[in-house]
Amino acid sequence: MKTFRRLFTYLAPYRIFLVVGLGAAVVATLLHLGPPYLIKIIIDKVLVQKNLSLLNYLILALIGLYLLRSGFTTLQIIYINKVQQGLIFDLRNEAHQHLQRLSLSYFEKRQSGRIVSRVVNDVEALQAIISSGGVTLVIALVTLVGSLIILIHLNPKLTLLAMIPIPALTFLVSSFSKKAHKGYRRMRRRLADINALLQENIAGIREIKSFRQEKLRQEKFAGKGGGYYQANMAVIRIWSVFFPLIMLMSALGTVIVLWYGGRAAIAGDLTIGGLVAFVSYLGLFYTPINQLNQVNNIFQHGRAAGERIFAIIDAVPEVKEKKRAIASNLPLAGKIKFNNVSFSYGTGKKKKEVLHQITFTANPGELVAFVGASGSGKSTIVSLIPHFYNINEGSITIGNYDIKDLKLKHLRQNIGMVLQEPFLFNGTVLENILFGKPGASKEEVVEAAKTANAHNFIQELELGYETEVGERGVKLSGGEKQRITIARVILKNPPILILDEATSSVDSEAEILIQEALEHLMKGKTNFVIAHRLSTIRNATKILVIADGRIVEEGTHWELLAKKGSYYRLYQMQFQFGDT
Ligand SMILES: Nc1ncnc2c1ncn2[C@@H]1O[C@H](COP(=O)(O)OP(=O)(O)OP(=O)(O)O)[C@@H](O)[C@H]1O
Ligand SMILES: [Mg+2]
Repeated sequence: MKTFRRLFTYLAPYRIFLVVGLGAAVVATLLHLGPPYLIKIIIDKVLVQKNLSLLNYLILALIGLYLLRSGFTTLQIIYINKVQQGLIFDLRNEAHQHLQRLSLSYFEKRQSGRIVSRVVNDVEALQAIISSGGVTLVIALVTLVGSLIILIHLNPKLTLLAMIPIPALTFLVSSFSKKAHKGYRRMRRRLADINALLQENIAGIREIKSFRQEKLRQEKFAGKGGGYYQANMAVIRIWSVFFPLIMLMSALGTVIVLWYGGRAAIAGDLTIGGLVAFVSYLGLFYTPINQLNQVNNIFQHGRAAGERIFAIIDAVPEVKEKKRAIASNLPLAGKIKFNNVSFSYGTGKKKKEVLHQITFTANPGELVAFVGASGSGKSTIVSLIPHFYNINEGSITIGNYDIKDLKLKHLRQNIGMVLQEPFLFNGTVLENILFGKPGASKEEVVEAAKTANAHNFIQELELGYETEVGERGVKLSGGEKQRITIARVILKNPPILILDEATSSVDSEAEILIQEALEHLMKGKTNFVIAHRLSTIRNATKILVIADGRIVEEGTHWELLAKKGSYYRLYQMQFQFGDT
């Protein structure tokens, strides 16, 4: 009930459409109840009494009824669909909007295909709740009550007999729905499995091909498909038993009525037309009971889908802004300070501390560099500055503010990041650079691209800045992608810069050019740079050597060399292999 009540609140903006649509459905249904009565009159008054002139009037009335019914049905379809399409439009948007608000940890814990499945398939499955569910329910109830009234009017005693199968029918319907809900839930989950795997197989198609994994991936996919098949068949098996049983019960009613009614007609207690009309209305009366069962089926399905969507909408972001978080349009400038920061990914038992008591400061105009082995925690440290994750202990401050007290928007507006794995969005080169500053002029974009040493290669692309980069930027080389992400940050021009291996995928020549550009960009800003190639950070104000989540050495390039510690060893190694 909770899921339905909640869904109901989403209908509020469409109240008027809903009223018109349901109203039309009710009128169309009432019109549907007319014809059997006219048929009764045709039999009793026209056929039996051979009254030809009455026949014409009745036929005209019948045509009128059918035409009206068609008109109202059209109205019903249009308005109900306005409601239902509106509902899924709103729900999908809300789910997507909320997803964007959720923290990174949410996405790290889940397969993206599963999330996609909820936002696409489960929302879609909800559609049926309105048209095939709600409307059918109203039609069924009107038909049920309407035909019951007419049945009683036609013959009360016969009506009573026709009610014999009702208790059994009700029992069947309710036990079916209990069984079905579980099955539907399983179906939704299995469908998400398929989506998750499919998405992964498409994203990883290069790896699949190069490792010749096609067959195994296909087998795995067939396995997931089989799961969905099984889940579907389980529901269908339940349905295959219940549906015929329900039909059987209503047939039983008709048989009783024909037996008793036939005797009554012969005895003269009932006209022939009366009996024909009674059986027709009885059909109308039992149909809704079958329909109610189907409605239930759809509601159970919708409920399973609704629960899954609301689970997204209700997910609480791990990183939450305080109620009175500070926001301003002024640039955030000032000393950035990590004070005894400890951090771990994940929650609960899986929690393993990756950073231990990290303490350092960075002033505007300074360049703080992180070096250290792969997996030592460099990327993790810088990802804490934009408050991507909550820390366990300690504090991170910018000027006088603890970043916990700042509005995320305000904080992140002031930070420019070039991430270790460059990511481009499907769209043009121009759009991708504009990501850094929506609304910037073409000149500004070109300027930024020139600074990032990207302008030349962009111009050589088929359509220049209007070239589509493909999903995730697949149509560009690694180094090209990287330069576009650098141009993005140059365009944004924030007071705090974070460059995680920003020039790792360009050749040495390009690196020197970009390095120059970046040095220009870094002037007066607070800069954090992670670099494997030590040559690029020789000028750093401060180099922090990280090992196993701790700062093990700290100083300038020359100080650290003189120390002959781990930095010295790293440097020696690179020197030896000619990289520096
Ligand atoms: N999202 C995550 N969830 C859980 N653990 C993570 C996550 N990201 C990184 N880790 C773990 O945290 C540790 C530090 O990772 P981090 O990415 O900060 O290393 P790094 O120093 O940047 O390495 P590299 O030089 O290879 O980029 C590693 O042990 C890694 O396995
Ligand atoms: Mg890293």
